[in-house]
Amino acid sequence: MKITFLGHASLQITIGDINILVDPFISGNPKASSINIDELQADYILLTHAHQDHILDVEAIVKRTEAVIVSNYEIVTHYQNKGLEGHPMNHGGTWDFEFGKLKYVNAIHTSSFPDGSYGGQPGGFVIEGEHKNIYIAGDTALTCDMKLIPLQTKLDLAILPIGDNFTMGIDDALIAADFVECDKILGYHFDTFGYIEIDHESAKRTFFESDKDLMLLEIGESIEL
Ligand code: NI
Ligand code: MN
Repeated sequence: MKITFLGHASLQITIGDINILVDPFISGNPKASSINIDELQADYILLTHAHQDHILDVEAIVKRTEAVIVSNYEIVTHYQNKGLEGHPMNHGGTWDFEFGKLKYVNAIHTSSFPDGSYGGQPGGFVIEGEHKNIYIAGDTALTCDMKLIPLQTKLDLAILPIGDNFTMGIDDALIAADFVECDKILGYHFDTFGYIEIDHESAKRTFFESDKDLMLLEIGESIEL
């Protein structure tokens, strides 16, 4: 499994020969100008919620790649009404996709489309694929629901928001890592705009002092699990 950070909360995950994009917000992120959305490969696009900073590039990418949108029922219906293909889910539901098993799990946040229309309830994803298990938290507060994840899945990586203000900050993300029983964390949803700028060294030190590894990737940088 290969995971590439595309800036903000945008990720590309490659499992076998399947390409998955998560929350594509690239063309509107000046920090991600090195990424060209017209060159991204996608078989699936996972959306955690409907906020602009998670869906901006969905339609452009799906029209070119014919990727299948996977999200909550309301978001998928929104795109199906525009003629795009989707797989609707809701919290607690699991489906066996060709890349592995995916569960849509709880997140504490909101989820409206940019025009204010209802975007269902926000979520995160647990993916079990190619003998590696990851948790993509989405935009969320720290929540005790995270403790449910390790009851079923031994995680190899937890991808957690750390920018604070709109989501968890560093201190809550450290507790979240304990809740999901995973010491290997990829931080996201930081530095994109003023409210969520963080001190990288201090953030990494906080995790290191608790015997955890916080990875902060450059935009375009990848890790292999
Ligand atoms: Ni959001
Ligand atoms: Mn966000």
